[in-house]
Amino acid sequence: MASNITFHDGTVSSEERFNSIQQKGATIWLTGLSASGKSTIACALEQHLLHLHKFTYRLDGDNIRFGLNKDLGFDEKSRNENIRRIGEVSRLFADACCLTITAFISPYRVDREFARQIHEKSGLPFVEVFVDAPLSVVEQRDPKGLYKKARAGEIKDFTGISAPYEVPEKPEIHLKTAETDVAESVRIITQYLVSHGYIP
Ligand code: PPS
Repeated sequence: MASNITFHDGTVSSEERFNSIQQKGATIWLTGLSASGKSTIACALEQHLLHLHKFTYRLDGDNIRFGLNKDLGFDEKSRNENIRRIGEVSRLFADACCLTITAFISPYRVDREFARQIHEKSGLPFVEVFVDAPLSVVEQRDPKGLYKKARAGEIKDFTGISAPYEVPEKPEIHLKTAETDVAESVRIITQYLVSHGYIP
């Protein structure tokens, strides 16, 4: 942490922002193995919320690693930093009244917990969605051929093969994507947002 810095509170309150934008912000945090369906569900959810005229934005693991997080790899420390940054960025988006959808493996509980805590400290909803598919299923899907390469030892620290994935203990939503299609997953998440008053 740098020294000689001072936090400046603005003059726009959360209430004023809400009254102007007429939408509460929240982060919908998708976590799961590679090829579990995070990105597909995130895209479909973003489309759906946009059609409902909601202010929404998607942050996706692969994409963010082309820019903001291009300096990070896949060792544990890099993943911690990846998720710390995304936790902070998604909190800012949510504070700006955006329904923010994140799709990151986010394999470590402690990192997801950090993201949750900084949202909750700011009074912003954090909805953890476990996008759950067994390793046998994601390995069979293998859309990018990464599991094959990881099994062949061509990729190190690959989640589920040579790096851990810590399953969420109490996610707000648990989707089993081997049994639930994309449209149904979007319906379940939307229903959760409506029933909790995050969208009218
Ligand atoms: S993490 O664990 O949250 O920091 O990962 P994330 O930022 O979501 O990036 C995951 C995508 O990176 C690709 N990829 C890897 N994933 C896991 N382990 C290793 N070693 C790895 N190397 C590259 C892969 O395309 C992941 O995308 P998804 O969409 O999850 O398949």
